[in-house]
Amino acid sequence: MVAVDLTEEYCQTARWLNQLAGLDDRICVRQGDVTDLPFEDATFTLMFSQHVQMNVADKALLYGEARRVLADGGQLAVWDIVAGEDGEPDFPVPWADRPECSHLTTSDRLRTAIGTAGFEIQQWHDLTGQPAAMMQTLLTLPPSPIGLQAFVPGFASKASNLAARWQTAGCAPSRASHERPRRLEVLRLLAAGRSNQRITRDLV
Ligand SMILES: C[S@@+](CC[C@H](N)C(=O)[O-])C[C@H]1O[C@@H](n2cnc3c(N)ncnc32)[C@H](O)[C@@H]1O
Repeated sequence: MVAVDLTEEYCQTARWLNQLAGLDDRICVRQGDVTDLPFEDATFTLMFSQHVQMNVADKALLYGEARRVLADGGQLAVWDIVAGEDGEPDFPVPWADRPECSHLTTSDRLRTAIGTAGFEIQQWHDLTGQPAAMMQTLLTLPPSPIGLQAFVPGFASKASNLAARWQTAGCAPSRASHERPRRLEVLRLLAAGRSNQRITRDLV
């Protein structure tokens, strides 16, 4: 499995966490830009994108790159945050300290961007309630030593702002293909709140 993030510090933290979890021999973490991925065409069969697109202004480039590096019949699963009906959240939020660093879009626009890039959308679920409830619970618990507050400065106030105006879209679009699309289980597993083990197996 290969993981990508733009920020080398995040990559180093990811490698450290993978080592702690005993997964460092199975996951290669590479510094890279999702709008200019350092991979050949059709390298992967499954791609999972989590909480990155709200930092990327050019969604067409982002999903165009996703399509380019996926093989025919490959699948893209997205677990992401979209703009709610009330407009911009209060800042800071976990992905942006200031509004100019945030590129939140609506669920409809995200769907259009993914579809326009050449994906056939198989499932699209609004799962707003689940992470909102989980975030509220997390905020009441004593912080875990390796929780996000250990890596993200001011995480508690960022998380509170997010929980206050929360909308999350989970979707599982599939690349358009001549083949019959495989049934995709990634989103169903996420929606059921289970671990990512199945996703990891599929990606390896
Ligand atoms: C809110 S964090 C989420 C991190 C991680 N995906 C997760 O879910 O825990 C957003 C991440 O997007 C990364 N990012 C922003 N723009 C990017 C880009 N163009 N290419 C790759 N990563 C990017 C940032 O470095 C940051 O680590």
